[in-house]
Amino acid sequence: MNTELDLQAVRDRALRNLLTHLSESVTDQWDDIAPFEPTDYHDPGLAVLERDRIFGEVPFIVAHSSELPAGHDFVSLELPRNKAIVIRQKDGGVKAFVNACRHRGAELVTEPSGKCRILSCPYHRWSYDPDGRLRTVTLDNTFGDFDRSKFGLVELPVEERHGFVWMIDNAERTIDVAAWLGPEMDAILAGFGIDRLVSVDPHTYRRPVNWKIMQDGFLDNYHVKYAHPNTAGKMLHTNAVALEDYGRHFWFLTSRKSIDQFIGQDIAWDASMENHTIESCFLAPNTMLLKHATHIELLTFRPVGADPNESIMQMRIMAPTVEASGLTEEHWTKRWKKNWGLLISILHDEDFPILDGSQRAQSSLDAGTMLLGRNELASHLFRREVRRLVERVPGA
Ligand code: FES
Ligand SMILES: [Fe+2]
Repeated sequence: MNTELDLQAVRDRALRNLLTHLSESVTDQWDDIAPFEPTDYHDPGLAVLERDRIFGEVPFIVAHSSELPAGHDFVSLELPRNKAIVIRQKDGGVKAFVNACRHRGAELVTEPSGKCRILSCPYHRWSYDPDGRLRTVTLDNTFGDFDRSKFGLVELPVEERHGFVWMIDNAERTIDVAAWLGPEMDAILAGFGIDRLVSVDPHTYRRPVNWKIMQDGFLDNYHVKYAHPNTAGKMLHTNAVALEDYGRHFWFLTSRKSIDQFIGQDIAWDASMENHTIESCFLAPNTMLLKHATHIELLTFRPVGADPNESIMQMRIMAPTVEASGLTEEHWTKRWKKNWGLLISILHDEDFPILDGSQRAQSSLDAGTMLLGRNELASHLFRREVRRLVERVPGA
């Protein structure tokens, strides 16, 4: 398959649709409005199903590969079902383990990232090789005999693809990212060349908000000029989306106001259009990828355990390397620091208070039935996939 050609066709179609939408003040839509209940974001029973049937069953992104550049580099993660460690192996591959000693369960790694030649438990100093094998049992002449090969670290399914590290948070499963992405989204991600970029200073936030409210907040093109009147709303169009639905994941185009110069013209996509648009991918179940002309942003959301009121959001900026950018190291650092500042001033300072408030407000037992508009197409599709996964029999 020629992935470049496919992506060009997708962009062409979307650009034409978007220009028509802007001239008519409409957007791609879902068939109907959809009522929903605030209990979707507060029900502990549903949160258990989401933890197990979503995060325990399907692949999701946990890191960019450049966050583990060399052998024995690790990152530790708080996933919904397991505390995990991902370790770059000497052969260049990655392995993931539950971050728990097999002796009496002490936490092996407490730092968010680092380098480990050996994983040494702080409690009784058992140690493990970076490939998870149990290496040392202290005072083993008195500990007693057991089969050491069965007491290595518990391995979790992990795979690298398109420059990202993906996991399923369940030791019983096997992972196949290409199968999960499907041919369309796999081709789109391949076309983005994300494996050539580097992740600049990833940010992690713990939020007192259901993960689906967080995800919805960043799929939403309807709120832009209302919630961000002095920042994003000045630069970006509101309520104008051209979307390609791939059944599970979806891709959509939104625009900067600078695109207005092309309204009414029948033009094809070329590279210069990147300056006037943002390409977004929703990667089910929990990720928003935004492609800008100069870089890619990645926003991921996951629950903390089975707590419906708490989530972890990770924000990433992936940029060309210093060498590829042609900038000096100093200029490169300054540029991305500034970019982070802008992103935080919008997402952290403007979106977070609203989303925190949604979680609080909807905890009112009599908050009433809510309504999702036809124009909120991306949120309808996100709900469709969450519902499908929650209803699916585990392991099927
Ligand atoms: S709990 Fe790790 S060595 Fe005892
Ligand atoms: Fe926002």
